[in-house]
Amino acid sequence: MRSYKKTSYSKHSHTNEIENEVTDQSLYLNRRAFIEKSSRTIGAYSLGAMTLGSSSSLLLANSSLACENLGQLNKSQLDKGQLHNITQDKSNSLSEITRYNNYYEFSTNKEAVIHLAKVLTTEPWTLTIEGEVEKPIILDIDKILSSMPIEERIYRLRCVEGWSMVIPWSGFSLCHLLKLALPTSKAKYVEFVSLLRPEEMIGQRIDSLDWPYREALRIDEAMHPLTLIATGLYGQDLPKQNGAPLRLVVPWKYAFKSIKAITHIRLLEEQPISSWSKAASSEYGFYANVNPKVAHPRWTQRRENRIGEIKKRRTQMFNGYAEQVAHLYKGMNLEKNY
Ligand code: MTE
Repeated sequence: MRSYKKTSYSKHSHTNEIENEVTDQSLYLNRRAFIEKSSRTIGAYSLGAMTLGSSSSLLLANSSLACENLGQLNKSQLDKGQLHNITQDKSNSLSEITRYNNYYEFSTNKEAVIHLAKVLTTEPWTLTIEGEVEKPIILDIDKILSSMPIEERIYRLRCVEGWSMVIPWSGFSLCHLLKLALPTSKAKYVEFVSLLRPEEMIGQRIDSLDWPYREALRIDEAMHPLTLIATGLYGQDLPKQNGAPLRLVVPWKYAFKSIKAITHIRLLEEQPISSWSKAASSEYGFYANVNPKVAHPRWTQRRENRIGEIKKRRTQMFNGYAEQVAHLYKGMNLEKNY
């Protein structure tokens, strides 16, 4: 995917500097303590980690502001022997996942990102949640890592370009984070904004996209338990090239929705315009649900190339998560709402 949006480069200071420290000191844990805690948590959940697919019989919540704990749900389903697809999709190797990356803030060359992203400073890092919320908050990364229910989730990731991977993320359902800010009834959309720091992100010095990178979801998509904030993969901290320290993962949508290096989350009444829609709205729609029946204007989406495999696979509706998410789009024309 290439974009042709023209913007002028201007030098910005770091946008995620701490503006207001609201960290509850009693909840603060240092990085080492977090790593011990998270590895215990991941261990506890690893039995429940799986690749969810259309054949699974998980009962997931309808969209509401209540959070389902998918990790717990997986475990209980597993105990009942109701899951059939635990080993269906083999995870890609750490090397594949970390050496083939789309991250335009650094480069449009997938193999170069691992090298160029090394200079990125990810500590300190704050995340601001604002907009249509009763309680706007600025959270320090350490507070997020120590207070959120981290678990492992193995998801398929399907890029709009036609390649896919299977990635064992660690992270937590976004709804746990959103709930902290108490969204108002006007909050219909959730916008995500990436870091703007051209001093370190050399791709931001050219106009490949209108920086910073932005993405958005409907509130019910954002509250769905499959919607993950990833903080790690393969049991380690999230590599910089994969979006450290916080990135979104929406497994049933094309992966350009899964925005990396998030600094701001805004709850909005109106649907915002995301970076790729702004660059080429006829090619990259707001919904971007994986759909083998709706072709990209320049290529088919019927098949995909799983990294590491020779023979192409058939692309699955909603990337194989139809059973969990199709109800969100009931009655919608998915060709118009691409
Ligand atoms: N997030 C930001 N901030 N910048 C990007 O260029 N690329 C997107 C998405 N998130 C991108 C981003 C695209 S097009 C894809 S395919 C995935 O990240 C790639 O994720 P991965 O490199 O972890 O496989």
